[in-house]
This record gives sequence, C-alpha cells and structure tokens, in this order.
Amino acid sequence: MKALIDKLRRDGRLRPAEYLRLIELADPSVSEYAARTARAVARERFGGGVFIRGLVEITSFCRNDCLYCGLRRSNTALVRYRLGEEQIAAACRAGHAAGFRTFVLQGGEDPALEDGRVERLVRRLRAEFPDSALTLSLGERSRDAYRRWREAGADRYLLRHEAADAACYARLHPADMSQQRRMACLSTLRELGYQTGAGMMVGAPGQTADDLAADLRFLERFRPEMVGIGPYLPQRQTPLADSPPGSADRTLLLLSLVRLMLPDALIPATTALASLLADGRERGILAGANVVMPNLSPPDVREQYAIYDHKLASGAEAADGLRELAGRLDAIGYRIDYARGDFRADL
Ligand code: 5AD
Repeated sequence: MKALIDKLRRDGRLRPAEYLRLIELADPSVSEYAARTARAVARERFGGGVFIRGLVEITSFCRNDCLYCGLRRSNTALVRYRLGEEQIAAACRAGHAAGFRTFVLQGGEDPALEDGRVERLVRRLRAEFPDSALTLSLGERSRDAYRRWREAGADRYLLRHEAADAACYARLHPADMSQQRRMACLSTLRELGYQTGAGMMVGAPGQTADDLAADLRFLERFRPEMVGIGPYLPQRQTPLADSPPGSADRTLLLLSLVRLMLPDALIPATTALASLLADGRERGILAGANVVMPNLSPPDVREQYAIYDHKLASGAEAADGLRELAGRLDAIGYRIDYARGDFRADL
C-alpha cells in the first residue's frame, strides 16, 4: 500500500484497480503515510502557507432538487434569502480590510439571479477590488453567462462534478439533472480561461469505493486547478436525512490522494470536514490541503444557508475569527498566506 502511495507521488497517476485497493483497504497506518507524504508535497510548493478565501453565500434559492442538499427546492421549510449588491460589496469590503484577497460568491441556482445581474456585480467588485481574485460558484449556467462573467473579471469558478460514475450521480440527483451537462459546464469553464474547481462528497448515500475510484480517475484526467472534497453530512429536511455522515478518515485519505495526484492544486480543508471533526480544518491541512474558506456572509443569513445540519459558521470558520484561525494554524506549524494564491503549475 505504501508503495502505491509512493508511486502516486512519483507518477501522478495509478491504475483504476490501484485506486480501488487504496480506498477499500487503507488502514490507519496507510492513511497516516498518505497524509505525511501529501503534506510534504504541499510544503514543497506552498511552504507553511495556507491561503484564505472569503466566502459570501449570496443566495439560498435553488431551482434544483439534489437529494442530499438542504437548499433543494422541495425543502419548503427553509427560509430563503438573496443578498443585494450592496450587501455583497460590504461583505467583501470587510473581508478586504481583514486581509482577504479572494472572494468566493457562492449560491444555489437562483433563477432570479439573472446573467446580467451577476455580470454587473462582478464588474463592480472587479473595479472595487482590483488586487483580489473573484471566484464564482453559482452552478450550471449557459456558456454565454460564463463568458460574460469571465469578461467582466471573474477569475475562477467552482463547480463540483459531484460524481464521475453515472449511476452514482443518478442516485444523488433527480432525473432532470444531467451529469453530462455538468461535465460540459466544467469543460466550458476551462475553455473560457477560468481556474476551474471540481470535487465530490465522500460517503454520500449509495456511494461505493468504486465510485470514489472513478472520481479519482476523473480528477486525474481533467486536472482541475481546485478540488473541493468534504464528507457527506445529512440535512434533516432532505430525503437522505437518515443516512449517516461520511467517514472523516476516508475523506482525509481522498484529500491526500488528490494532493499526490495534483501537487499544485488548490485544495480546501472544507467547512464540511470542520463541521464533522472539531479539528477537521487542521486535519485537512495535515493531510495536504492548502486553503481555508472562512465565511464572510452577514451573520444573520449564515444559518439559512443550510446545505447540511450543524454547519459551522463562527470561530475560525468565520472571517471575524481570523485570529483564532491564525492561532490554530500556528499550533500545527502553518500560517495564513494572504496572497491571492492563483494556481501556478510547477516549474
Ligand atoms: N453534505 C456535504 N456536502 C454537501 N454539499 C451539498 N449538500 C451536502 C451535504 N448534505 C456539497 C455539494 C455541493 C457543495 C456546495 O456542497 O458537493 O457541490
């Protein structure tokens, strides 16, 4: 098993059956070896620096009905909100003053958030924060929308592929969602020059080790600049409410494998991981992550962005908790890197 990890580090790829073996059979000593190797790779690239991204959850309206997500349209119990341009700009301004140089505008697929409205928002933030990276994470939109937003100044786009195996994707999504369309969106984003993020949940209901191996093969092929990986966490108002959370250990193993495969990638220690484990952020970084995404949304709406239960929204998960974050990083030998932190391929 350790030989497979060394091979992944050396070649950046494994055979399908080898991924599967690692996922199915890794015991704690193998996972620890993967984490140690992955963090050495991250250290070579990024020193002890961890990039911070200010997350603004701009709308909780969503036209989709993903079975796992609390923002699904069938969740009528959820109080929905949409931030106005002023509120979003104010959140970014506070973040900028605190030192953030990347803002991530994330939201459900909100039909009222028209292409032109997002375009104006991006233009405005681009003008107001010329030294900062702008990341969008607004789901599947038309090529024309993606193009307009890119031309308005957006640099990066996060769109998790969710599942590379078609059957796995179909178990987690309603029939009116298409994995092909999602993959086409990812290709379009890449073509338009976005630094592009993909990713998946670990331990989603019905997901097998084979499915995760398929995700790794997809990531190996697509080579996204950013990869978001977090545990599945149940949300009480979804059809999958009774499914147990994904395994933290398996999430960390997958994170390490992706770091070994994509040494230069920007990989967050996700809020989902930090919500599952008290030291999840630290564990993610020690497994090879190099990004954290504190929440810049107005505090009163954070609770309403209820994609899963028990989502952390304060302390080191919040922008006002940067000092706490700095302290936690310091305790494990890391520090906040305040740079924009664009993807850079190895020399
Ligand atoms: N548990 C963990 N992650 C979730 N996401 C959505 N719902 C859940 C959940 N219940 C993830 C999806 C999505 C991202 C915004 O959050 O992967 O792409």
